[in-house]
Amino acid sequence: MEITFRLNGEVRRVETTPTRTLLDWLREEAGLTGTKEGCNEGDCGACTVMVTGADGRAAALNACILLMPQVEGKSVRTVEGLAGPDGTLHPVQQAMIDRHGSQCGFCTPGFVMSMATAHLNGRTDYDDQLAGNLCRCTGYAPIIRAAEEAAAAPVPGWMREDAVPKAGRPDAEAELCRPDTSDALATWYAAHPDATLVAGATDVGLWVTKQLRELFPVAFLSGCDDLRTIEVTESDIRLGAMVTIAALQELMSAHHPSLAELLRRFASVQVRAAATIGGNIANGSPIGDGPPALIALGTTLHLRHGESRRSLPLEEYFLAYGKQDRAPGEFVEAVTIPRQPDTLRCYKLSKRFDQDISAVCGCFNIRIDGERVESARIAFGGMAATPKRAAAVEAALLGQPWTQATIEAALPAFAEDYAPIDDMRASAGYRLSAAQNMLRRAFAEDTGAATSVLEIAP
Ligand SMILES: Cc1cc2nc3c(=O)[nH]c(=O)nc-3n(C[C@H](O)[C@H](O)[C@H](O)COP(=O)(O)OP(=O)(O)OC[C@H]3O[C@@H](n4cnc5c(N)ncnc54)[C@H](O)[C@@H]3O)c2cc1C
Ligand code: FES
Ligand code: FES
Repeated sequence: MEITFRLNGEVRRVETTPTRTLLDWLREEAGLTGTKEGCNEGDCGACTVMVTGADGRAAALNACILLMPQVEGKSVRTVEGLAGPDGTLHPVQQAMIDRHGSQCGFCTPGFVMSMATAHLNGRTDYDDQLAGNLCRCTGYAPIIRAAEEAAAAPVPGWMREDAVPKAGRPDAEAELCRPDTSDALATWYAAHPDATLVAGATDVGLWVTKQLRELFPVAFLSGCDDLRTIEVTESDIRLGAMVTIAALQELMSAHHPSLAELLRRFASVQVRAAATIGGNIANGSPIGDGPPALIALGTTLHLRHGESRRSLPLEEYFLAYGKQDRAPGEFVEAVTIPRQPDTLRCYKLSKRFDQDISAVCGCFNIRIDGERVESARIAFGGMAATPKRAAAVEAALLGQPWTQATIEAALPAFAEDYAPIDDMRASAGYRLSAAQNMLRRAFAEDTGAATSVLEIAP
């Protein structure tokens, strides 16, 4: 297959295979070995490159789990393209030298690419911007000092990427489809119901790099711009399946800030810029961070098969472990979240603050009418084989006075709703008491207590 994209300023038209990762292509075919391979699974950031889409927005992405068809029509900048044409270092490179931001140097190309992308985008929240880059020997303080120092310098002219003309794509073949619209996707997928769909590839990429799987037949959804739309009306917020977690985080900061805060801890900047809400739902993971919050908000899921469409409450989509209510050839088209006053509280419990999968993720949407619980939608990840509503806890709260006594009386109901598993993230008993404590926390927060370690001032 042919891919057209811009690499370090130059348009490239290359022959490749759909399961080739950008990292392997850069290192093995383009001879650009500055981009490093650390984990090959999206965790370490050593392979970070800058990718600019047709909308002109630049994102730091992990090249190890980015498949070549995903860069079609985009501009890719690697560490070799960071200095100017005359060899002038990028301000972040110079600051890394001046501030001693590198020792063994293996992580450094990934760091400078994340720093250069943050610099270009005017981001100064370095703890978040660099959470997806691991350094084991320099330590973060000199690196953050370097980022702070570089912030004052203007963005070098050579960092402004031009759009790449969209190449005419070949028609869909039996084994491969790169649709430009969801209509084209629907037609092809209905005819190839056993195909793999690739959205952001933050799950699928690992099937390739870790399980060495071939994906055929395969469809890449990255060209379907109509699946990226966000529509906010008086009554609801409709998100296309290809809306990224990064875009959802930005949007939710205005509507449901607690969800935005949860998404800040969804993987890393690099993963959030690729991962989509459609993929987060479709994969059916019991520990995905999106579904519990969306279920608590009363989200509707929209599925499409060929020309036929159906909608269902999101919680009904998750049937059992690894089993979802999705027919062969049917795909996630969108979700709609009803507009509502913000009463959502989301809590993610994981071993590390950043870049870690939830052991338990609890989301509470409890409305109080005067003094009583008027409505309660509560959903958890990590507590069952699927993301699941806490129906018994909700029933124990409904209509009761909003008091500590009601909370304590509702706690035993958690054992009716959930029989969590023991695994390396947490034991069953720990999960159950953590979930109960999250309800206590929701009450404490609602009644004015400072509960977040990030909010406690000296
Ligand atoms: C380092 C790392 C950290 C992570 N941390 C987190 C985390 O903190 N929280 C969390 O929830 N997840 C996390 N994940 C998992 C992953 O990022 C998410 O599940 C993500 O939302 C998947 O979206 P995607 O677009 O990348 O899906 P893909 O990998 O492209 O696809 C995932 C699955 O969904 C299917 N699919 C995709 N789109 C559709 C569609 N529209 N219709 C039907 N099927 C579809 C694919 O065929 C595949 O089966 C992490 C992953 C990595 C690599
Ligand atoms: S090599 Fe570790 S994130 Fe890509
Ligand atoms: S400088 Fe060695 S890992 Fe970062």
